[in-house]
Amino acid sequence: MEGACRLPRSRSPVQPVSHAPLPTPRDPAPADEDVLDPEAMRQPLANAWYCVGRSAAFAGGKAGARKGGGLGAIELNGEQIVVGRDAAGALFALRDRCPHRGMALSKGRFDGEALTCPFHGWRFGTDGRCRDVPTLSSADAADFSRIAVQRFPVRESAGFVWVNPFLGPPGRADVPALPALDFEAAGACVVALVVEASFDLTTLSLVDPGHVAFVHDSWWFRPSKELREKVKRFAPTPHGFTMTSHATTTSAPVYRLLGGAPAVEIEFRLPGVRLERIAAGAKRVANYTFATPMSHNRTLLTNALYWNMPALNLLKPVARPLMRQFLTQDQQVLQHAQKGLDRKPTMVLFGQGDLPSQWYFRLKREALQAAREARAFRNPLQPQELRWRS
Ligand code: FES
Ligand SMILES: [Fe+2]
Repeated sequence: MEGACRLPRSRSPVQPVSHAPLPTPRDPAPADEDVLDPEAMRQPLANAWYCVGRSAAFAGGKAGARKGGGLGAIELNGEQIVVGRDAAGALFALRDRCPHRGMALSKGRFDGEALTCPFHGWRFGTDGRCRDVPTLSSADAADFSRIAVQRFPVRESAGFVWVNPFLGPPGRADVPALPALDFEAAGACVVALVVEASFDLTTLSLVDPGHVAFVHDSWWFRPSKELREKVKRFAPTPHGFTMTSHATTTSAPVYRLLGGAPAVEIEFRLPGVRLERIAAGAKRVANYTFATPMSHNRTLLTNALYWNMPALNLLKPVARPLMRQFLTQDQQVLQHAQKGLDRKPTMVLFGQGDLPSQWYFRLKREALQAAREARAFRNPLQPQELRWRS
């Protein structure tokens, strides 16, 4: 079966699908798609946690003050957001826009308690409330306490800061859990780069086994150029799915570093998170990848490698350039593919190797539907064995 058509509609496996073109107003949409705004399906999930940087990048307290306030300006799903940490170590995330004349608050001063806008000196607490308008005269009866900057929920997990850019009513949203690390890390190596491609296209690369042999063909990752038949077990998880396998002796040399035949579990979780967990006895390695939508066709890809063996800290200077090479391979191919999709926005998802990509769209559709109906997320996937060559 082959062909280009619209968003995944059917629940049967190996359906050719595409995430575009989207129906024009003249297109009669089928009943099950009526309830969904096609534009929403094209956007990253609005109500979800996104990785915005390493925890260590947002220094609070005295260290933060020494570094000029420790404020970070981030771009998340089209929003400009300023992230910081107060004197007590608590994180905050505010819209990076002074309500007075639109100045970026991240350009101002932060004393550990309040941000001062560099334009006219208005001061805002980390709760977003205006604390002072220094230019007001005592004859001015204006009440500035009603002025506020939009505040966003912010959390810390797995050594990263996460922001939820959702602006709608909190409701009873069933938001995917934050990725966490389930062992004590002895070290970590992080590489992040910006991909000039849509959030969906970038996220698909996290669940796409078909590209690995062609894009990631470095000797240290893939010593053999031959394609081999793979059989993998997939099972649904709360907001995604897992793939489990035992790495064989012919697997990547990086797995062999751990010795034996390590057990590998790869979880995909909405909105754009891939969690690879490798265990060989007490030795643990985790390879986490996070996609963060910055703006239209601009996505931040963050890769974090953690381990629990202190001896591996010696390999850090070697690991970082290899990780960067790996991520750059994705970046380059995604940017070229995005140009093709800009010219004609259709995809053909074909064969069992493309089923995880179809599942991504089904999970996203269900998340949108659940939010619309103010109910819990019901994973539409079933346990399944997939075969492909890679
Ligand atoms: S623009 Fe911020 S105080 Fe005027
Ligand atoms: Fe990749």
